[in-house]
Amino acid sequence: MERTLVLVKPDAVAKGCSGAILARLEATGAKLVAAKMLQIPRALAEKHYEAHRAKPFFAGVVGFITSGPVVAAVFEGEGAVAKVRKAMGATNPANAEPGTIRRDFAESIERNAVHGSDSPESAAIEISLYFKPEEIISR
Ligand code: TYD
Repeated sequence: MERTLVLVKPDAVAKGCSGAILARLEATGAKLVAAKMLQIPRALAEKHYEAHRAKPFFAGVVGFITSGPVVAAVFEGEGAVAKVRKAMGATNPANAEPGTIRRDFAESIERNAVHGSDSPESAAIEISLYFKPEEIISR
């Protein structure tokens, strides 16, 4: 069964929007199978955003994701990656469709409320960074 990693980012947690964002993701039909709050250590953030290491926004995105607590979650189900990405909306909230999480909750391209894996392959890697197998309750 397909799984995807979600992070409710520090901007959205600080605004008290974690529950609203998780509710929108549950409404896609994907099933919540793991969740926890954590403060991401710098080394973990650098691993998570490894593919962006050479990009000009790398330091900014690592600094932001480590700036406060996040809610990490795993969603599961047929097409879970795409369902979550659709509900999230475009990376830049200025380009995100009405009704998407980023359109409604994001502040900027950097402070953009939510992360969702971009493929089943990256999801498998990202889930293993945040969760032990026994922390995922798939029933
Ligand atoms: P990316 O993987 O391109 O977007 P998405 O999160 O939609 O999969 O980029 C990862 C994160 O890096 C993005 O959520 C926010 C940050 N970022 C910036 O701060 N500036 C940028 O110009 C881009 C493209 C991303």
